[in-house]
Amino acid sequence: MNFTCLIVETRDKVGLITLNRPKQLNALSDVLMDELAEALTAFDRDAGIGAVVLTGSDKAFAAGADIAGMKDLGWMDAYQGNLISRNWDRVREFRKPLIAAVAGFALGGGCELAMMCDMIFAADNAQFGQPEVKLGILPGAGGTQRLPRAVGKAKAMDMCLTARMMDAQEAERAGLVSRVIPRERLLDEALSAARTMAGFSLPVVMMIKESIQRAFEVPLAEGLLFERRSFHAAFGLADKQEGMAAFLEKRPPNFRNA
Ligand code: HXC
Repeated sequence: MNFTCLIVETRDKVGLITLNRPKQLNALSDVLMDELAEALTAFDRDAGIGAVVLTGSDKAFAAGADIAGMKDLGWMDAYQGNLISRNWDRVREFRKPLIAAVAGFALGGGCELAMMCDMIFAADNAQFGQPEVKLGILPGAGGTQRLPRAVGKAKAMDMCLTARMMDAQEAERAGLVSRVIPRERLLDEALSAARTMAGFSLPVVMMIKESIQRAFEVPLAEGLLFERRSFHAAFGLADKQEGMAAFLEKRPPNFRNA
């Protein structure tokens, strides 16, 4: 597929998707989100890919959903057109590890897109915010749900209701991001973490991701049962035999994703 708003590359077992609408600070247009859904679907199907990094530019991961594209939409356009659900939801359905490598602005839908990923690595110039209230709308891609789960009610209310931004250091303290990295090393560190994950057994990595996702969906007893059944299932993998044998034989494991 020819992408107009993305640069899509592979680095060995790692997929790298760069949002590429620099003039609009990577504003997330419908076309861009269609392309992102397409690129992620292809990486999910590609057995050679073990993890994906999603990034933007030094100035902006993404400054939000595309305001120009939404300006003339009415309720029926949004509802009948299934705005957001139609393409954005593909991101949360992606089954392999997905790192958001965020430099600069991650605002509105940009912050929400980062939060749909499995972890956020932030450059030291990253700024997170949900400024939709200033436009007469509210976060519509999970901001009111994922942000409080990440940073707690007080900070989520503060950000969504006053539109203030949170810098990288505060975001790390609050639990929104897993690492803060000097801007010039952001991509290398994200690719390196992705390479590490892609070197493990793919089915095991996918089961870990799925189990942690369940923690946000179901009561503890159900989540524990889901984890236990997945744990039992891992005993059916040749990779489990290999991983344990390699440890005991003091050699690196050779996982075959089986
Ligand atoms: C469309 C955008 C945009 C956006 C920036 N641009 N953000 N276009 N949609 N979300 C465009 C500007 O219009 C401008 O175009 C160019 O990018 C550069 O932006 P400037 O404002 O000149 O840059 P700067 O002064 O550095 O300010 C950066 C900024 C500001 C603070 C990030 O651009 C800003 O406040 N952007 C809007 C942030 C926002 O409200 N996001 C939420 C969107 S709603 P020209 O042509 O003038 O050069 C949303 C809803 C989510 O995300 C709901 C579900 C998805």
